[in-house]
Amino acid sequence: MNVECSLDRAREAVDRCLTLAKLSEEDNRTTRTFLSPPMREAQRLIRGWMEGAGLTVTIDAVGNVRGVVPGSRSGAAPLLIGSHIDTVPGAGPFDGVLGVMLAIGLVEALDGETPEFGIEVVAFSEEEGVRFHIPFLGSRALIGTLDRDTLQVQDDRGITMAQAIRDFGLNPDRLDEAQVRSSVLGYVEFHIEQGPILDNLRMPVGVVEGIVGQTRLEAVFRGTTNHAGTTPMHLRRDAMPAASEWILEVERQASAVPGIVATVGSITAVPGAVNVIPGEVRATLDVRHADDLRRATAVHRLIAHARAIAERRKLEFDWNTRLDQHAIRCDPALTDALARSVELSGLPVHRMVSGAGHDAMVMASRMPVAMLFIRSPEGISHHSAESVRIEDVAAALRSGSHFLKQISGTLQLSDSLTARHDDAVRHVREDSGIDNAGQ
Ligand code: GLV
Ligand code: MN
Ligand code: MN
Repeated sequence: MNVECSLDRAREAVDRCLTLAKLSEEDNRTTRTFLSPPMREAQRLIRGWMEGAGLTVTIDAVGNVRGVVPGSRSGAAPLLIGSHIDTVPGAGPFDGVLGVMLAIGLVEALDGETPEFGIEVVAFSEEEGVRFHIPFLGSRALIGTLDRDTLQVQDDRGITMAQAIRDFGLNPDRLDEAQVRSSVLGYVEFHIEQGPILDNLRMPVGVVEGIVGQTRLEAVFRGTTNHAGTTPMHLRRDAMPAASEWILEVERQASAVPGIVATVGSITAVPGAVNVIPGEVRATLDVRHADDLRRATAVHRLIAHARAIAERRKLEFDWNTRLDQHAIRCDPALTDALARSVELSGLPVHRMVSGAGHDAMVMASRMPVAMLFIRSPEGISHHSAESVRIEDVAAALRSGSHFLKQISGTLQLSDSLTARHDDAVRHVREDSGIDNAGQ
């Protein structure tokens, strides 16, 4: 793909992201959660763009939009390229969505000249974990770890996941069919960096070598709901000060351990009124570190601290883990091919670790994965001010196009890829000292 053509396709990819950003559950900002009403129109548009690119499109039982183009060699294992199309509340236009638009752009750029291997473009219906407080629903369906118990989890309105799937016109009983069963070359994801590193280095793209592990849980402090005017301070069992104390401790402990990031991103006071002492406060916790053992230790300490606070204040404390996802290493061979593709595009190569979670980390438990980051100006993401530069998007497209040519020539043996992948997973687990399947 020459520079001119890549710039045209980059503009188109960005325009499509901006169009999708208008499909929202809220009037003045982009919020598109799992199987929410605007997801239907997003699917319709994406299906149209995929079909225009020559892909044969299906929508699986969790709403992933999947477009397939067969390879020229029959029986060759396909390559999966994708990212997610759900968003956080008040999102920017590019998180996840850009990766899907680039995948479609790469297929369009083939212009009928299919590689030996087939390509499946996947627009995952859920990655962020906003609606059901469990992330990666789309990719978990593909690797077969979205189980019956998870389908019974309720959203904040009390709707089970199974019901949400039915309400959207899909069939949760057909979840098994979403699984990737054949052998595949691997999974590649293009994604904005969502951080400041490439911007600081003035580099358009970065090659991801691994993704840090993350724990997500909900902490619940329980006391007694009572009247705010009549209950003297010393007779209260107020859940709010306990949660507040703990939240400050989360910040203090995370700041003291290099590499740890910990966030309380959402708190809910029950019943939640100005003149009522909250009898219950629920707080989410997100903890990440590249080393699984350090992450587990940090989480353990924070839970112990929450218990101690609750005990001192004569409250109850409980928590439920929503995600315990181990760190992953990207496949060395696919990653080297990606780095070489960046070089072939005339760009410097920067290898880096992702602090954000991505569908690639779930797919990695079943297949080799690789990821390319696109610079995030000012490092801003999960915010409406999220942006990209057209030149950087074009650079990603040129790298992607070199990548497709390269793996066609060098990486056709999916068995050996899978073996290398199993080795890499084993090493990550051994290095981290825990065997944590992550789902
Ligand atoms: C995904 O956006 C994450 O939270 O890392
Ligand atoms: Mn995100
Ligand atoms: Mn994302």
